[in-house]
Amino acid sequence: MSTPLLQLNQVSKTFNDGDARGEVEALRRVSLTVNEGEFVTILGPSGCGKSTLLRIIAGLTPLSSGECLYKGEPVIKPSLERGYVFQDPRLFPWLNVLENINLAGNDGKELLRKMDLTEFSRAFPHELSGGMARRVALARALVPRPNLLLLDEPLANLDPKLRVNLQEELQRIWEREGVTCILVTHNLDEAINLGTRIVLLSKRPGVIKQDQPLDLPFPRRRYPKFVKAAKAQISTWMEV
Ligand SMILES: Nc1ncnc2c1ncn2[C@@H]1O[C@H](COP(=O)(O)OP(=O)(O)OP(=O)(O)O)[C@@H](O)[C@H]1O
Ligand SMILES: [Mg+2]
Repeated sequence: MSTPLLQLNQVSKTFNDGDARGEVEALRRVSLTVNEGEFVTILGPSGCGKSTLLRIIAGLTPLSSGECLYKGEPVIKPSLERGYVFQDPRLFPWLNVLENINLAGNDGKELLRKMDLTEFSRAFPHELSGGMARRVALARALVPRPNLLLLDEPLANLDPKLRVNLQEELQRIWEREGVTCILVTHNLDEAINLGTRIVLLSKRPGVIKQDQPLDLPFPRRRYPKFVKAAKAQISTWMEV
């Protein structure tokens, strides 16, 4: 059997800052195996440890116990193989769009075209709309050709129409580039629009409540009945 792309075994994380907050148990015994080509969406209430989980996978936060293996090797530090898109675009204000994208390579021009941003290659971040800035952040994460793309609510706080457009863009990137994706979202529609699998976390400390494949073809909007049924089912899980 081949080694899975990512394997989390009983991963727990307790923050202990030594400050007034004392210990915070963020994640408890999370086990998750992700294979090449999957698009995993992670849903869960605010503060349940979703970002912590992504940061552990990225190598940005050490775990407290358990193991996190990428291609069979423990994750100990960040790698360009694992791209990360933060919730806010975090562009460098003093660099233009192309320079921001080319930070980790020089493939930027092609990605700009794919993202429909060519006209804005010389624009600076303050000149961009929210949706454009997010496309730039996404393109920047794709430049090093990551195997795994970690997306922390990359489409939050966008107007619904733009959000759906960018979901479709993300879906195309996933299909075209063959990149494995793990996307954190608060939005059930988004999880169903994009995921080949939905992982539901409980409230803090986050434990996996459900881990469900979504065997529906894309684009999902073509299958409203199935989407409605999936939504109803997942909503009931979210309530308990
Ligand atoms: N560096 C840190 N030090 C101490 N506690 C932290 C740290 N980072 C996160 N936490 C705590 O761990 C818990 C989980 O945080 P996390 O950011 O992973 O949640 P989340 O599910 O991403 O929340 P949201 O949906 O609001 O983004 C929270 O209680 C948070 O306060
Ligand atoms: Mg978060």
